[in-house]
Amino acid sequence: MRTILADNLLDALTANAPLVFGHRGASADAPENTLAAFELAAQHGAHGIELDVHLTRDQQLAVIHNATVDATTNGSGAVAEVSLAQLKELDAGSWFAPEFAGERIPTLDEVFAAVGRRLFVNVEIKSAVPGIEHALAACIAQRQMEARVLVSSFDAGILRRLRPLLDVPLGFLCPFVDSAWLDAKRNQQMYAALHPWHASIDSELMRRARESGFMVNAWTVNDSARACQLKKLGVNGIITDQPVAILAALASC
Ligand code: G3P
Ligand code: MG
Repeated sequence: MRTILADNLLDALTANAPLVFGHRGASADAPENTLAAFELAAQHGAHGIELDVHLTRDQQLAVIHNATVDATTNGSGAVAEVSLAQLKELDAGSWFAPEFAGERIPTLDEVFAAVGRRLFVNVEIKSAVPGIEHALAACIAQRQMEARVLVSSFDAGILRRLRPLLDVPLGFLCPFVDSAWLDAKRNQQMYAALHPWHASIDSELMRRARESGFMVNAWTVNDSARACQLKKLGVNGIITDQPVAILAALASC
């Protein structure tokens, strides 16, 4: 039976750990960062999704991983140099499989509208261009998603700019966490969570993260045995391309 989760992401990350987030949606089975991939993550029983945002030339939040559209659409060029209307002309599904032809690059608002009440959303800010923090704060506030999102980035500067605009939990993406960094952040209110690359997580990292008051969410975990190790280590969230497989693994360990 499906566990009933709290409506608040931080509560759920504490009470129901580890939560499972579809990385760019259920991206092993549908084109990444599309509504199809997010819907599939929901159908597969994921608790949440992780997605990536860039700002378009006309200050819209486009959900796409790369700074250019080349790898995941039939177009080419930089997201930052085109309007949302131009992005919407592109096919973001055919590169993955013919049955996804016609998928579009969604806006963050469209994702919130489609799945925001069913899935928690980890928004990863990919570009620190001026204005993206204001666009993101406005989008989250308009959809009243404050309690259901966690905003992460590899870029500490953009998270610092977002911090005063909106009261949402922040996660710092860090391939590796060193102890000096953790000591420096102890007792600071900036981040709710660390998002380390999963292979860098061990019991010592978990101990130090807890001591410093951080939740720990791991990426990108597609191996069932590793997911079970991370569960035993006590991580709060697991970000995976394959939520259905990882959920099945976690249910049996
Ligand atoms: O947010 C976790 C993970 O998505 C970070 O790496 O390159 O897949 O966005 P990337
Ligand atoms: Mg990402």
